[in-house]
Amino acid sequence: MEDNEIHFVYPISWITVSPAFTDFMTKLFKEAKKDITIADFASGEHDRVPSFFIRHLPRLLGLQDESIGKVYVYSIDLHSLRLDSLLGKHEESHLLDRARVVRAKIESMDQDAAMRPAMTEFIQEHPDTATWLDDFLIEENRFPPECFDLGVLNNDIIGYMLEYYQTHSDVIVGLQKVRSSIRTGGLLAVTMPCSLYVLNNVAALEKSGFEFLEGFDVDLSTKEVTFVEKDAEPGTMSRLGHYTLLLFTAK
Ligand SMILES: C[S@@+](CC[C@H](N)C(=O)[O-])C[C@H]1O[C@@H](n2cnc3c(N)ncnc32)[C@H](O)[C@@H]1O
Repeated sequence: MEDNEIHFVYPISWITVSPAFTDFMTKLFKEAKKDITIADFASGEHDRVPSFFIRHLPRLLGLQDESIGKVYVYSIDLHSLRLDSLLGKHEESHLLDRARVVRAKIESMDQDAAMRPAMTEFIQEHPDTATWLDDFLIEENRFPPECFDLGVLNNDIIGYMLEYYQTHSDVIVGLQKVRSSIRTGGLLAVTMPCSLYVLNNVAALEKSGFEFLEGFDVDLSTKEVTFVEKDAEPGTMSRLGHYTLLLFTAK
């Protein structure tokens, strides 16, 4: 796949323009001491985040060595049927050894999180693919603290939760649980902030234990990348024809 095409098929691949991200991931891949765990929070049935990290990222970072660390992506959503559909996509793309689907509400995932039954079955039939986190989840049905190296809130999930789930979800508790599930020093990537609902993502995340690291905006017609400052007007993010991404550190 050409690099132009990769940005089209996998918008998340723009994340590789961030030096903070590429340095962080390269170091993790090279350490290779443990499995790299990534969460796609409120994933829906979106398979591009897991397939990008598992299939394409090492090559884009120039790391093709067999000895690099292995990425495991946990797609987390409260909707069982969407997750089962996602599992079907992973099966077709032969990603089941690295992609996980887990039903949980982000605001209570530290108390209640269940792998979909077909996922557990796959892991039990292929125990060589299991991570320590898979074993923990199957045993305890919850996510332990600081279990992810990197989290992704893809396509304005913060706005989505505020706009549609106000009565069901406590968004701030949700963001605090996102924070406590990522290890201190780990990263959170927020893509397309304000595309659905304009609110100050930086302020909401800084209240929840994250620190703004860097942000950028891509004009998709010219491919021009500009950096987004911490105090940028929320209304200027994720405009039509643009891709915006914010990166935070878990403090
Ligand atoms: C717009 S959709 C999927 C977005 C997906 N990240 C993407 O990039 O296409 C939003 C998803 O959020 C899920 N969701 C909403 N509130 C949630 C919560 N509190 N915990 C977990 N998932 C939630 C919904 O079930 C739905 O699948």
